[in-house]
Amino acid sequence: MICRILLLVVLPSCVSGSFVVNVTQTCYQAEENHNITLEWTFTTKPDRSTKTLNILCELFISDKLSVLYHVHEGVEVSESQDEEFSGRVQSDKDALREGRIRLQLSRLRTDDSGLYLCEVNTDYGFSVGRCQLNVTAVFHSSNLQTVSPQPESRESQHGVGLSLVLPLLALVIICALLCLVGIKKRKQTLTRVSEIKPITT
Ligand SMILES: *[C@@H]1O[C@H](CO)[C@@H](O)[C@H](O)[C@H]1NC(C)=O
Ligand SMILES: *[C@@H]1O[C@H](CO)[C@@H](O)[C@H](O)[C@H]1NC(C)=O
Ligand SMILES: *[C@@H]1O[C@H](CO)[C@@H](O)[C@H](O)[C@H]1NC(C)=O
Repeated sequence: MICRILLLVVLPSCVSGSFVVNVTQTCYQAEENHNITLEWTFTTKPDRSTKTLNILCELFISDKLSVLYHVHEGVEVSESQDEEFSGRVQSDKDALREGRIRLQLSRLRTDDSGLYLCEVNTDYGFSVGRCQLNVTAVFHSSNLQTVSPQPESRESQHGVGLSLVLPLLALVIICALLCLVGIKKRKQTLTRVSEIKPITT
């Protein structure tokens, strides 16, 4: 497992030569239940048979790898696919012939968020491309969706009101305190003066 991760993560930077796997986008944003198409491109050679083409695309989340797409010697191996992706991945076979791995992932779940790696192995090279997918949750209940925005906006108005009122209130209190202190001090000096006066006279 660790070796495999090292292979996926470390090796690409060591690979030299002209064989590359690129991503068309390094980071994808999507909402739950929507579809998204992830795309990689790799170096093709017109004279090579697809029989030498091996592809393994996986989702990598912390210590877990799940296979979403596997091509072995030019043939798609659906048995390799992890259950969580079952029936949710569609590959574009025409694009594949042109060196483009296009995988449509449908009915997105928040659990689909993570790092997606595609390793491409041919008789003329090996490389890996990676991209990040971020699936954000949406509220499931239609009640929540229609009702929640109004209280939220009211709350935010309330919030704005409070954020203005509170400093004002604090200012008023500080002024009042300062005035009180000032009056006390004046009274003290007045009483001191009146105390001193009889002594000097
Ligand atoms: C997502 O993909 C599925 C299957 O490919 C399709 O039936 C559905 O209409 C798509 N939904 C959206 C929102 O594009
Ligand atoms: C990969 O990206 C590099 C740099 O953008 C580009 O020159 C090259 O043609 C790309 N190769 C493939 C196979 O997409
Ligand atoms: C995913 O999207 C959310 C909302 O746009 C954002 O706050 C969060 O930082 C994103 N996470 C990643 C790993 O990109």
